Amino acid sequence: MWKGRFQTQTSSLLEQFGESISFDWRLYPYDVQGSIAHAAALRKAGILTADEEQAIASGLEEIRGEIEAGTFEFQTSLEDIHMNIEKALTDRIGPAGAKLHTARSRNDQVALDTRLYCRAEIARLTDLLTGMQRSLVALSRRHPDAVVPGYTHLQRGQPVLFAHHLLAYVEMFERDKQRLADALKRVNVMPLGSGALAGSTIVLDREMVAEKLGFPSVTTNSMDAVSDRDYIAEILFALSMVGVHLSRLSEDVILWASAEFAFIELSDAHTTGSSLMPQKKNPDIAELARGKSGRLVGNLMSLLTTIKGLPMTYNRDLQEDKEPLFDSIDHVSIALELFAEMMDAAKVLEQNTREATDDPFLLATDLADYLVLHGVPFREAHEVMGQLTAYSIEQNKSFRDMSLEEFRQFSNAFEQDAFDCLTVETALAARQGIGAPSPARVAEQLERWEKLLG
Ligand code: ARG
Repeated sequence: MWKGRFQTQTSSLLEQFGESISFDWRLYPYDVQGSIAHAAALRKAGILTADEEQAIASGLEEIRGEIEAGTFEFQTSLEDIHMNIEKALTDRIGPAGAKLHTARSRNDQVALDTRLYCRAEIARLTDLLTGMQRSLVALSRRHPDAVVPGYTHLQRGQPVLFAHHLLAYVEMFERDKQRLADALKRVNVMPLGSGALAGSTIVLDREMVAEKLGFPSVTTNSMDAVSDRDYIAEILFALSMVGVHLSRLSEDVILWASAEFAFIELSDAHTTGSSLMPQKKNPDIAELARGKSGRLVGNLMSLLTTIKGLPMTYNRDLQEDKEPLFDSIDHVSIALELFAEMMDAAKVLEQNTREATDDPFLLATDLADYLVLHGVPFREAHEVMGQLTAYSIEQNKSFRDMSLEEFRQFSNAFEQDAFDCLTVETALAARQGIGAPSPARVAEQLERWEKLLG
């Protein structure tokens, strides 16, 4: 494509080193779409006749069809998707094809293709996140009364509804969707017409191109437009965050599926066995999802490091943006889809979660609150409950088995009704504030999410 200036062949090692067709082939639908819009702008600028524009559009559609059918032959010597398609077009339709690259560089072309790709993928990822949220909501709905100990420091803290725990993740995935939606604002800007770096002496109607391609605006600095990869970094960050959220959920699922917790049972379809230990049922999906968060963060680091020292404007280093992007999108996609499937088939073992929640120490804070409501300052109430806890451990006697007299040894603010605090039901029902886990509040949240997620 640049043979004019060169006398010898490209080194075959360079061909191997520099090719991107092995991964950027997947930009083909966007390359075709972008070129068709570009041809319309060339026609408007008087560079192409109506017939030539038509020949280009139908030639490109034909090529798209062949790529989809798997009959198109990609050539490594043509480096990337842009040159593969352009060469195939020119071979087919002759001189009109050779005019297509007027007032365009692969620098603005690849920027356009990548933005179109990201826009489509953000929509798809958003749907996958919604799918993940839906299965968490559905699991909550199947077990609306299941209670679990809520933990801090992985030590039992206070009782919560299992649904409340699951809905915490629904909130996280909602923020992930918002982050992607926000990134889309920066993705959705049309760079074509920026040329190699300084636009072109052949002035194209960029706004018309933007409109054809569904972009609400065009980039306003040609140098920035060909070297900007911020929007990819933003997506990689948003996907790292999805990965980190999935990783935390994975850790919960792994704990819940252990014999020690035994809060959930995963289906056979979503677990694996051991080649040595016949009894094993391993939560590999959750472990892999947790593991993949590493590569997602790595992909973000890879891109940031690539961009960091680049002088303006386009440098070939930027070709290194695509593999991390594709990799993160691919791995997040399958992880979300599979995780949702696994949660759909998971069973909550309510008897076990109830037994775990029956630990009276989970209600120590509620008894402290009882004292506060009977006039004891919280710090003092906390101290009283600390002493009562020590007494309970020492006497090996649960709060529920103590007499009022024993309670009153520590504070005479205790009355008979203190024992009413000692059921999980009372403890949960009392937590009525916005965002707290009383059954009524959780039911409201479940309804809100069901409405929101459809
Ligand atoms: N394959 C290239 C990339 O992904 C396309 C742009 C090439 N531009 C250039 N001046 N060599 O970045």
